[in-house]
Amino acid sequence: MTSAAHRGAHRGARLEAVGTYVPSKVLTNADLAKLVDTTDEWIVRRTGIRERRVAAPDEFTSDLCTAAARDLFTRSGSSPDDVELVIVGTTTPDYAFPSVASQVQDRLGMRHAGAVDLQATCAGFAYGLHIANGLVSAGIHERVLVIAGETLTKVTDYTDRASCILFGDAAGAALVEPATPGSIRASVVGSHGEGGPHLYRTGLSCRIAGPAGAELAPGLMRQNGREVYRWAVETVAAGVSRLMERAGVTGDDIDWFIPHSANIRITEAVCERTGIPIARTLSSIECYGNTSAATIPLALAAGIAEDKIHRGDTVILYGFGGGLVHAGLLLEW
Ligand code: COA
Repeated sequence: MTSAAHRGAHRGARLEAVGTYVPSKVLTNADLAKLVDTTDEWIVRRTGIRERRVAAPDEFTSDLCTAAARDLFTRSGSSPDDVELVIVGTTTPDYAFPSVASQVQDRLGMRHAGAVDLQATCAGFAYGLHIANGLVSAGIHERVLVIAGETLTKVTDYTDRASCILFGDAAGAALVEPATPGSIRASVVGSHGEGGPHLYRTGLSCRIAGPAGAELAPGLMRQNGREVYRWAVETVAAGVSRLMERAGVTGDDIDWFIPHSANIRITEAVCERTGIPIARTLSSIECYGNTSAATIPLALAAGIAEDKIHRGDTVILYGFGGGLVHAGLLLEW
């Protein structure tokens, strides 16, 4: 695991604004009980999920990401023209290429921006912020737009009851800009590639037909839920402790902890190990399920909208997922 503490009155970075988008179609636990042998009671008790959103057949990750970025710019002092780099964290791009980032750059008319997709599964938002923080703090870029978007329901196996109950579709975005001192105080990243077989997908494109109309078979997700669960609890607890150590704070100093919303029981177990009270966590699991890289911006945006997170609050964001990879940041909102 590499880590970095970012302190002092040097140029750093801050999150200027966040935006989100969720598709309108709701898939409830009762709906899933008609597809596989499960119950609302089992899903709520074992995962904390009540419902999730499903993208329309003709709605893809680039559409969700574009909508989340548009939402962000309604709350931001900056405009799309100010963006110098678009990073999209996604594991469900429309196509192998062109990238989702390039499609969003075009649709928002970001004339001065570079564009790149980042493949870090459910840790994509945290990895994107880690990289954006480095680029902005170093003075290489002034404004980096980090978007996390997924259409996991297009690659979910709806005959596998142990995985199809978990996933949903959404997108979230954050604009990273310079600040002196920076408000991102520490970050950590890590990878356990040996765990790759516990959570994987072989296909890349989510569209059945390519741009020229050829038939493609999207790979479905496969997972060993128990192994991922065990790894996540151990890894995130260790990563959060490392973040707090790097930033010189304790659990008492954390106003809000926003781990990736994969399963409410993972969050509870991490809280038990790190000493962060569960009451200080924010999650998007109940209404949206596991939306992979998008869960953290969804919970962050809701926390701001509900007047829970205030400017100056100390917040930990922690993403983890297939790879197996993880990344976290400790920042002042
Ligand atoms: N409804 C009812 N029963 C189900 C079920 C469902 N949807 N899914 C699994 N079960 C059954 C299993 O078949 C098993 O039955 P058995 O004991 O007769 O074999 C039993 O429930 C327990 O299975 P287990 O896999 O131990 O359940 P669990 O408590 O670990 O919960 C997950 C399964 C998938 C919810 C859980 O392992 C999990 O959330 N793992 C992490 C996955 C994750 O977060 N992935 C993304 C990471 S980014």
